[in-house]
Amino acid sequence: MEVFNTINNTKRFIAEAKKSGKSIGFVPTMGALHEGHLTLMRRAKQENDLLAVSVFVNPIQFNNSDDLQKYPRDLEKDKHLLKSVGCDILFAPTVNEMYPEKQVTEHFDFGKLETVMEGASRPGHFNGVAVVVKRLFNIITPGKAYFGEKDFQQLAIIKQLVKKEKMSVEIVPCAIVREPDGLAMSSRNARLTQKERALAPFIYQTLKKAVELKNSKSPAEITSWVTRQFNNKPAFKPDYFIIADSTGLQPVKQWDKSKGTMGFAAVFLGDVRLIDNIRFY
Ligand code: PAJ
Repeated sequence: MEVFNTINNTKRFIAEAKKSGKSIGFVPTMGALHEGHLTLMRRAKQENDLLAVSVFVNPIQFNNSDDLQKYPRDLEKDKHLLKSVGCDILFAPTVNEMYPEKQVTEHFDFGKLETVMEGASRPGHFNGVAVVVKRLFNIITPGKAYFGEKDFQQLAIIKQLVKKEKMSVEIVPCAIVREPDGLAMSSRNARLTQKERALAPFIYQTLKKAVELKNSKSPAEITSWVTRQFNNKPAFKPDYFIIADSTGLQPVKQWDKSKGTMGFAAVFLGDVRLIDNIRFY
């Protein structure tokens, strides 16, 4: 595995690889790698000649400085895991390398896609994601890039970014990877106390029960039912639960079985904010 900290060295290596006709599959991450990340990587490795991974905790996508400061970091452990999936190129830049400018001024407009859910709850978050992913794509120049449906709205934003910027990369969506007890894998799970970790599967259990209610209840009824479930448990504080169409991510009032419809939840468990989603139709 080649490990790079600078943009120039990375670009040079990639230019050589491309000259010899190698295809590149890319998985951008913020590290603290888990089986969810590794599943994306195994697929990228299988579908491309070379697997490139970035590990960069992107400060401009955090709207909460405490969350940024507490974000788990362990590059040495990550390197071992990356080797185990056959990673060829690791790009792990510093903040200065990615953002030499004092203030990032680049601004993207994703319209209604960013006015709901994570966009509404975390102002500036998706702009920060888009800025870093655009820069990473320009450095790695992958043929395919892999993103998890765990961050379903992020995936929609990235697809729109690629379209808007006319970038020639194929975005490959990957299913949510879960713990055996159903909890969606996340780097933030490491911040849960033992007690909170034991309670955390309640999120997915509630989403699954919500789907079972779809034949007898309206989206609004299910939304208030889900919110009530979380409010009834003192350890949980729901941030939002929304039933929305799976392309525009706008809330739906009625069921339309012919359109993709998903439920999206963001819940505080203690001071850790967890997200998950499930398909209704
Ligand atoms: P991070 O949270 O590290 O996630 C990296 C990739 O792994 C994302 O595409 C995410 O959706 C995917 N992923 C995480 N947990 C998953 C799970 N349980 N199942 C399936 N996929 C999962 O998302 C980011 O980093 C950043 O916003 C980034 C895109 C790197 C930009 O900074």
